[in-house]
Amino acid sequence: MKVQLYVPDGRYDPWIEGFAEALPEAECVTWEQSQGQPVDYAVVWRPPVEMLRGRTDLKAVFNLGAGVDGILQLRDADPEALPASVPIVRLDDAGMGAQMVEYVTHAVLRYFRRMDEFAAQQRAGTWKFLKPNRRADFTIGVMGIGTLGAQIARALASFGFPVRGWSRSARSVEGVECHAGEQGQAAFLDGLRVLVNVLPLTPETENIIDGGLLARLAKGAYLINVARGPHVVDEDLLAAVQQGQIAGATLDVFRKEPLPADHPFWQEPRITITPHIAALTLREDSIAQIADKIRALQAGRPIAGVVDLQRGY
Ligand code: NAP
Ligand code: GLV
Repeated sequence: MKVQLYVPDGRYDPWIEGFAEALPEAECVTWEQSQGQPVDYAVVWRPPVEMLRGRTDLKAVFNLGAGVDGILQLRDADPEALPASVPIVRLDDAGMGAQMVEYVTHAVLRYFRRMDEFAAQQRAGTWKFLKPNRRADFTIGVMGIGTLGAQIARALASFGFPVRGWSRSARSVEGVECHAGEQGQAAFLDGLRVLVNVLPLTPETENIIDGGLLARLAKGAYLINVARGPHVVDEDLLAAVQQGQIAGATLDVFRKEPLPADHPFWQEPRITITPHIAALTLREDSIAQIADKIRALQAGRPIAGVVDLQRGY
């Protein structure tokens, strides 16, 4: 059995060593070494379109991330890129949930405890009491309560915050008030103090965080975006921050990454920028998960995490 790898930074050795240990029955080859040869499985992150074109040899493509928008956009742009019969499999948590919980909880608590304001006071040499926020007034909405969002929502609820969740189909998450679909969107959004975005990027969710949506939140709300840049209409977010509708935003993802040096977000002190690190792909966990799934497929067993091409995630 052959497994073909593509990682954009070309640092293959640790991946090849990892697969040799976790899946010794497979021969692991790089895309560069094996172009044009049939293989059984591909393991990729942001592959070049040539790697996917006409690949009827593949039994599955494993994406080294939770979001599959990169691969699906290649298929949309080039119908030859990956036959529809080849399943695309996303990473299912694989250590990302815990990282997302840390990142989002940190940002929420920073806003809730007014830490940015205390930091500004320190810079000005000011010792001044600021009235604390009340938990009951700090309703948090998690947009997307799938593998990662459900863990975030549960963690925030455990601090005693009122937490709402929003999904496409009806879901239930313990301690979380759940809403679903377009008909549930207004009840989910109305009056939120913090909006956390963990949606997949699909044609339905692109540009979802626009001026209209931000206006539904409480005045002085916060936005935390750990999903994808194109969910947010950048100009609308900037305007909402400048008008005080949004008091602050923590953004991990951007339309163009790295965020261009002349992007106005860099100059807005109420916007916190991190370089797409909210939840990193952990090599050992990912290899272990993919190796298990390859074994299951080889044995004819079903696997979780197969992307539904109609839904786009
Ligand atoms: P997931 O398990 O597929 O969950 C997606 C959630 O979004 C589900 O609850 C789904 O609803 C909901 N959803 C999808 N389309 C919707 C729509 N049109 N309206 C309402 N709800 C909708 O995905 P995940 O593993 O949690 O990952 C989510 C995203 O996080 C990824 O796609 C990726 O873009 C991003 N991510 C970012 C980083 C980072 O470092 N910044 C790391 C990992 C992942 P249903 O439950 O009804 O299906
Ligand atoms: C990272 O952004 C992922 O989708 O896993």
